[in-house]
Amino acid sequence: MANVVIAVDGTAASGKGTIAKKLAQHFGFHHLDSGSLYRLVALGVSEAKGDPNDESDALKAAQAIDPSKASDPRIRSAEIGRLASQVSVFPKVRAALLEYQRAFARRAPGAVIDGRDIGTIVCPDAQAKLFVDARPDIRARRRWLELKSYGDGRSEPAILAELRERDMRDAARAVAPMKPAKDAALLDTSELDIDAAFKAALALVERSLTSPPKG
Ligand code: DC
Repeated sequence: MANVVIAVDGTAASGKGTIAKKLAQHFGFHHLDSGSLYRLVALGVSEAKGDPNDESDALKAAQAIDPSKASDPRIRSAEIGRLASQVSVFPKVRAALLEYQRAFARRAPGAVIDGRDIGTIVCPDAQAKLFVDARPDIRARRRWLELKSYGDGRSEPAILAELRERDMRDAARAVAPMKPAKDAALLDTSELDIDAAFKAALALVERSLTSPPKG
């Protein structure tokens, strides 16, 4: 049987990362947080004092990233999240990160990848696709709690405004915009805690794996 790929796309702070990690644990698959790749590009641009709105500065950083540095806590800041959204609009940056993601998807026995364009562009043949979302106020609360744990004292309204701006940029870009694949199952986690969100995601994935989505 072909390598199994589970694509978990969705909005910022929707819970997609936690869900993806738990799905990977459940199935014994590898997990890739593709957003961390764009965040590493953003950190590279920032450290090189480059311009995040300049495609060649962003491309230079994309060609130099080391995906094994994805656990660097510096990439989790709100500032790097915003810069990641900016550098990710550039087609050359996206192209530079594509092969790494596709090679990751081929890792046996399977891979769970979360991001914005996994079900649409990176792995259109994924056997299971989820698109995770939640109400913006709920996502802002979650991100506020997460950032607080990193020592970031930003207010909740400021975080809500940033999330809205980021969603708009991610959904409006010309190349690989954030959107549900036609064959993705939609999951709204607004009223769900982590356990309930995981259970709902698992049920959707199991349904897809027994009758895979068609292009
Ligand atoms: O999921 P995240 O918040 O770590 O992602 C940071 C940014 O990276 C996001 O705002 C847009 C970009 N991104 C992307 O363009 N495509 C992906 N597959 C994942 C993230």
